[in-house]
Amino acid sequence: MACGLQIKDEDSGYNKNLFCIPKHYEEDIERVFIPHGLILDRTERLARDIMQDMGSHHIVALCVLKGGYKFFADLLDHIKALNQNGDKSVPITVDFVRIKSYCNDSPTQKISIVGEELSALNGKDIIETGRTMKALLSKLKDKEPKMIRVVSLLIKMTNQSPGYRPDYIGFEIPDKFVVGYALDYNEYFRDLNHICILKEKAKEKYKI
Ligand code: HPA
Ligand code: MG
Repeated sequence: MACGLQIKDEDSGYNKNLFCIPKHYEEDIERVFIPHGLILDRTERLARDIMQDMGSHHIVALCVLKGGYKFFADLLDHIKALNQNGDKSVPITVDFVRIKSYCNDSPTQKISIVGEELSALNGKDIIETGRTMKALLSKLKDKEPKMIRVVSLLIKMTNQSPGYRPDYIGFEIPDKFVVGYALDYNEYFRDLNHICILKEKAKEKYKI
């Protein structure tokens, strides 16, 4: 069973004044929860674990937009570096789907999957990045790929979790709403390097 780096509820992150935060978000951030450097270090190791398990199959790396795009790009950079310098290398192609499942800081009833006919996935292996996986996985399995592996940077330890665990996990975090590193609150904060916790008044400010 895959394990991520566990961040406990008592670990409330870091004082934001010890990190660089864009001026336009300075008032909105409560704490830095996972610094950018730690995200990259963990991602480097995930890339190594994935490539060790993957054999010589062609990989279709499927990114779940928009929240997965930073992790996807950094994970692929590390995988490409391994492909470049290792004893063996495998071809990788990329694909993208877009899923919207959150409004403000709460999940919406309806999960919408936008774009992609997903035909390229037949008979190939997939790396995925993202959180709202169950709905997507049932669609992907219709295409009968040889192998599907799901990589998620974060999983939340929540009571109402759908009971699904990805094959590779970056961090296991408490059930807090986080932003940054492409994760948004109503489209804001994707342009923030660190994964952070918002102030309540920021949630009001950007509420729709
Ligand atoms: N932050 C941003 N988007 C999300 C989250 C979160 O904590 N959980 C699910 N989508
Ligand atoms: Mg979102």
